[in-house]
This record gives sequence, structure tokens and C-alpha cells, in this order.
Amino acid sequence: MMEQPQLLSKIATGNGHGENSAYFEGWKAYENDPFHPTNNPNGVIQMGLAENQACILASDLVENWITSNPEASICSLEGVNQFKAMANFQDYHGLPQFRQAVAKFMERTRGNRVSFDPDRIVMSGGATGAHEVIAFCLADPGDAFLVPTPYYAGFDRDLKWRTGVQLVPVICKSSNNFKLTKKALESAFDKAKEDNIKIKGLLITNPSNPLGTIMDKETLKVLVSFINEKQIHLISDEIYAATVFCHPSFTSIAEIIEHDTNLEYNRNLIHIVYSLSKDLGFPGFRVGIIYSYNDEVVNCARKMSSFGLVSSQTQYLIASMLSDEEFVEKFVVESAKRLAKRYGIFCRGLSQVGIKCLQSNAGLFLWMDLRCLLKKQTFEEEMKLWKVIIHQVKINISPGCSFHCCEPGWFRVCYANMDDRDVEVSLTRIRTFVRRNKAEILAEKNPCSRRNLRLNFSLRSLDDFLVSPHSSITHSPIVKATTC
Ligand SMILES: Cc1ncc(COP(=O)(O)O)c(C=O)c1O
Repeated sequence: MMEQPQLLSKIATGNGHGENSAYFEGWKAYENDPFHPTNNPNGVIQMGLAENQACILASDLVENWITSNPEASICSLEGVNQFKAMANFQDYHGLPQFRQAVAKFMERTRGNRVSFDPDRIVMSGGATGAHEVIAFCLADPGDAFLVPTPYYAGFDRDLKWRTGVQLVPVICKSSNNFKLTKKALESAFDKAKEDNIKIKGLLITNPSNPLGTIMDKETLKVLVSFINEKQIHLISDEIYAATVFCHPSFTSIAEIIEHDTNLEYNRNLIHIVYSLSKDLGFPGFRVGIIYSYNDEVVNCARKMSSFGLVSSQTQYLIASMLSDEEFVEKFVVESAKRLAKRYGIFCRGLSQVGIKCLQSNAGLFLWMDLRCLLKKQTFEEEMKLWKVIIHQVKINISPGCSFHCCEPGWFRVCYANMDDRDVEVSLTRIRTFVRRNKAEILAEKNPCSRRNLRLNFSLRSLDDFLVSPHSSITHSPIVKATTC
């Protein structure tokens, strides 16, 4: 038989896309059977998407602003006179008023304690595009970035796939609340050296996805010293800057290098990735930003931005919206207030069944500790538990392994992409599941008290197990316990 010619590229046919993890698998499970309170009440609830949505985000404020400022849209009667100019605009520097407004917004979301130069703002297609551009600018194929774990699952695609760059994990553990230490950094750096891997930079996410925690000033200073000592770059992904909903406040890497006069560092090594996907809740607009203190990186990234520009229509609207300081102020304050409230509801709801979460003060998610539900502390058991949660409890949360967490049993739970009614449904499902499972594990550990308790999972009327007699939910998949 004649050998078939390879019609497609290695990139197209290979597995380098990084999407073969439980993180992306969970999205598919949701897409195949999405929950709807009336049309599909037994469907999968999406809690695997870090989205700042609906009533959680101050979207009512955005809608009001749009209604009161029709000229900001070039497709309205009031704004149509700008249509032609915007439809023709294609300068990859971007609209000056857009860069100015974004720089100001970045300052506001960092407590107005730093300043950003609009001429250093480079556009990209979301933070996703920004990461790839930065990887292209700083590293060659085969080179690597250190990344503290657990880290955002998309990095395996965004930084590695098309660039050929590698990511080297820096192991952080629950024993110190996953805090990044100098020791962990040194150890990962030395190990990479032993393996002949050239480290070109350190990528941090601050506030962290998936932890929801922020880095303190001391840690940030340690990082700046570390990268200077090793002569490598520091990329700070700060796309959750405005999701910090209670004290302590967020410290940007920009604040450290602007204000710490004792710190010796080379500005050319520092870069910030930002986007409006989380802080404003506009992931569909694909507004990503590369802010580099290095002129060469700014120049190269700007040229590369041709591959992922933000449309001029979007720039025009964003420029107008973010120039309204009164709106921005109200939005940022209200959004944080609503996130704090939702965080509290979830933490309290989970603590009712003894489930703890890592204490956090930012992000759109909780880092939930389900180690008590693992029969053995292994990643196989974590995957088994995840499969039950997604296919039978029907909640898409993401297992720690998809974030490269070094300890099994942690799960990321996104809570900002649903309305209050769905929050109740999801909490009820989780609590019921945890109660039944704890009972099973206890019974296994203590056979005398077992009394022939047999647990299995099936779809069954939630009415049998309802925590609240007033709940409006009628049917849901949950864990079913039977005695025999
Ligand atoms: C830490 C982090 N960086 C980057 C991204 C990608 O964001 P964008 O939608 O702006 O591409 C995400 C999305 O979840 C994220 O959590």
C-alpha cells in the first residue's frame, strides 16, 4: 500500500495545543448537557469558567452607561459620524485615546499608586495573545519559563504551542498556603540547569488563578532580586487586578519597581500582561495588553500585534467608557462589593458540610480542599472523584491536576459566572454530594458503624435530599445512599 503523504503540519496534527486536560474536558461535558433551571434542570452547571458575569459583575452599570452614551457606539444614530473613520483605522499603535484610557484604568485598578505610559501599551487578542507575543519576544524554541504551581491551565497552550517554548513548574505546597518561596525558585532553576533547559524568565499570575490569592510586597521584592540575579525576565500576569474584594490590597509589580528605591533591578527585564476579560468582564472583546518596560520588547510586540489587533470599533467604545472616571470608580467599587458577597455565600455554604477553601481575597473562584473525599491521596483518585462530580453530580469544577497542582484533592470552583438562583442549586448539589461521600468514607474507615450502608450514584429526585425545604429545585442528579 502506498504511504499516505502528510498533508498537514506537525502543529496541526500534534498534541501541543495543551487542550487535552480535564480543564477543557469539563467544558465539553457542560456544552453537551448545559444546565437550565427550567429547560434542563438535570444538566451540568458550569463552574469551570472564570467569568465575571451577569449580576455578579456590575453589568447593570455597564448597560446603563451604554444607554446614556449612545455616541460611544459607531453603530448608533449619535455615533454614526465616526463610522467611516473607525472602519478605516488600522494603525497597530492603536487609537491614542484608547491607550490613554487603558493606561489610566490600569492605574486605577492598582490603587492609583503607579503610573503607566500610554506609549508602552501594546494591544493583543486578549491576555491569551499577549502571553504568546511576550513568549515570542523573550524566548527561542526549547527555552523555558519558570511558572509557580498551581497555574492557569491555558498557559500550556498560550505560551508553548506555537512558540515551542517550555514551562518549568516551580512547586508550591499547601503547607504554606501555596506561597512562592526563594527556595522553590532556586530548586526549579537548578533542576532546569541540570536538565540543560535554558530558563529565560519567570511567569507569575498575581492575583493568582486558580488560588485567588495575592502576592505580598516582600515576595514580589524577592522575585525581582531573583530574576536580576539570574538575568532572566519577569512576566507578571495581572488580569485579575480589580477582582481583589477585601484587604490586603493588591500590589502590582509596577508598584515595587516604582517605589522601592533600595531595590536594584534592571527595568528591561520586567513586563506586565493585562486584559479587560476579567476586571471589566469583557472576554468577548479580546482586549489584551502587553506593558513592557523594555523598549525593544515594546517595538517588537507592537509589530507582532498586527496578528491580533483589537478592532478599532472596540477601541473606540472602550476609550470612551474608560475615560468616564465617575463610571469607572462606581464600577470598580461595586464589582468588588458583589464579588465579596458571592465569595462569602460560597465559603459559608461549603463550610456547612465541613469543606474548607484556601483563604483568598481575589479572583472569580475558590480553591476548594476535597482531600477528605479521596480514598487515597493520589491523582488517580482525584480524577475518579472529578469524574463522579462532573458526570453524576453534574457540576463542572476543575481538578487541581489540570493546574499542575503538586497535591491531589484540590479543585477550582468558579462562582462569578452564574446568577443567585443557580448558586443555590450548585451549593445544594455540592453539599448533598459531600454529606453522602463523607458518610461512605467514615463507614469504610470504621466497619463497625457501617450498618450495611451502601453508597452509589444515580440520578434521583433532589427532593429526597433537599437541604432547604423552600428550594425551588425539583430534580437534580445527586449521590444516592441506600441501606441494604
Ligand atoms: C491567568 C490568566 N491569564 C490569561 C487568561 C486569558 O485571558 P483572555 O480572555 O484575556 O485571553 C486567563 C483566562 O482565564 C487567565 O486566567
